[in-house]
Amino acid sequence: MPDSDPSEASSVASQVPVVPHTPSPPVPVTPPPPAAQSGSHGHSQPHAENASADRRQSSMKDELVVVGLAFVVMTLATSWYKRTTSTGTSTPPLPPGPKGLPVVGYFPFLGPNLHHEFAKMANHYGPIFKIYLGSKLHVVVNSAELAKVVTGEQDEIFANRDPHTAGLVTSYNANDVAWAPNNGNRRKLRKVLVYEVLSNVNLEASHSYRRYEVRKTIKDVYDSIGKPVDINEILFLTVMNILTSIVWGKGLAEGSKYGFSVEIRDVVSRIVEIAEGLNMSDFFPVLARFDLQGVKKKMEDQMKRFDQIFETTIKERTGSKSALIGEKDKQEGKKDLLQILLELKDQDTMPNSINMTQLKALIVDMFLGGVDATSAMVEWAMTEILRNTKVMTKVQDELAEVVGLNNIVEESHLPKLKYLDAVFKETFRLHPPLPFLLPRAPNRTCTVGGYTVPKGSTIFLNVWAIQRDPKYWDNPSEFNPERFLNYEGLEKWDYSGTNLKFFPFGSGRRRCPGISLGEKMMMHILASLMHSFEWRLPEGEEYDLSEKFGIAMKKKRPLIVIPSQRLIDDNMYL
Ligand code: HEM
Repeated sequence: MPDSDPSEASSVASQVPVVPHTPSPPVPVTPPPPAAQSGSHGHSQPHAENASADRRQSSMKDELVVVGLAFVVMTLATSWYKRTTSTGTSTPPLPPGPKGLPVVGYFPFLGPNLHHEFAKMANHYGPIFKIYLGSKLHVVVNSAELAKVVTGEQDEIFANRDPHTAGLVTSYNANDVAWAPNNGNRRKLRKVLVYEVLSNVNLEASHSYRRYEVRKTIKDVYDSIGKPVDINEILFLTVMNILTSIVWGKGLAEGSKYGFSVEIRDVVSRIVEIAEGLNMSDFFPVLARFDLQGVKKKMEDQMKRFDQIFETTIKERTGSKSALIGEKDKQEGKKDLLQILLELKDQDTMPNSINMTQLKALIVDMFLGGVDATSAMVEWAMTEILRNTKVMTKVQDELAEVVGLNNIVEESHLPKLKYLDAVFKETFRLHPPLPFLLPRAPNRTCTVGGYTVPKGSTIFLNVWAIQRDPKYWDNPSEFNPERFLNYEGLEKWDYSGTNLKFFPFGSGRRRCPGISLGEKMMMHILASLMHSFEWRLPEGEEYDLSEKFGIAMKKKRPLIVIPSQRLIDDNMYL
């Protein structure tokens, strides 16, 4: 495929000067022609002397011209070389990339699984390439080394987003953490989320909510013993309920007091569904105001429903009756997140004070950031365990040893489940739920890997390809949790994003702030499902690993399996 794109001329030409061609070699100096060849007619002696003097003069002139030309060419060549090799003084070219069509860019040539397509292109174009999707320039980064430049050395520039339509609506116009530009407001909101809302103390204080929801799920599965169970469905529900109770307290999650939990579940599922579709407005900004597919309108309708839930519950909470509920929970060490956020909202003069819109946007962030990715991950991990008998035996042995077959899984067991932790890491390596993370957008034109990355372009960090790159991983497509156990201290494998060969939660300033909560939920739910039940496929079915690209990369076909009782004591299921 050719490396130039005709549509570049109009959209980025102003930012990228044309790089001159390699200079031609200097012209060789031609010796003066012999006298016999200089005239074809023959001449007398004096004339011959004059003619010879003329020839000498003109040949000197020629030499001077040639030497001059050579000098100019050499000077140009040197200056070109200096310009293209020095960092500060000239703009390097755009990254290479496939040629697209005018207007639509490369869209017509792409299949549904963008991460597969981009991994193939990375093999062809190298560690960084560009691609036009619609009228927008996208830059795809495919190596750990360049990912480090984007999320480390130049993180300040790249810690910006270019929110798509759905993101703008759900974030109350980027008034949140996920879609905000990299400014003081974003930093404040992120601090609030990380240090106030999702702090270790608060996560500890809300552990009984998680325990309650996980136990409820185990009981529901127990009631379905012998029947096919849609794992994705129960995971989505469990994570939704956990987040609902962490945010609003148990009353709302049970649905008994306000009856809102079903409504929240429905709103979140619909938002995820709408956001998963391709919205042309995001790739052709000139069309955005027409909202041709109605994505903006549909999203706004759902957000109105979310808003209604906020209005009602916040009014209740700030009224005398619910303030008492908050007080009671506080005494029991169960302060829900809404309560924490409302307290921050009231501290008008404090640096961490937030307004009502930001409060709502933070809660939406938690639901949209947490539910889909967490449930998708547990489903992937469970599929990998069930289809690898050796892995399953090791997981079950570890659970029997750490938890015991006369016991149920508690959060206190989780740090001891080292093998299950390695299973999750290996699952994250092969099935990162956000294969390109959340796209970034530099707020300045800059240089990455020797290429210009223009301000405002959309940056995909191709974590899916990096985590399967044979340059970094032995037998990369093999599911082998041991690689995260037996590394003998050579590499540090965790979710912090410091090792850019493995960063499923992102890296740098925009790294996921929900890692601890996500990890607790994933480990607790999966450990409980694997500890409490044996699982088998329905007759004639096979385990399937095909993927569906969306908000989070999920299984194309949901995992449907049949549970049977594993623990002898029936009381362990109540
Ligand atoms: C297994 C579960 C989860 C996975 C795999 C996951 C993954 C990610 C990833 C890959 C990013 C983008 C990072 C980047 O652009 O560099 C992200 C961002 C984010 N996640 Fe998570 N996440 C999970 C759970 C959660 C939870 C439970 C919450 C909240 C309670 C959450 C809230 C967020 C937010 C707010 C952002 C935006 C951060 C920013 O832009 O500064 N996530 N997550």
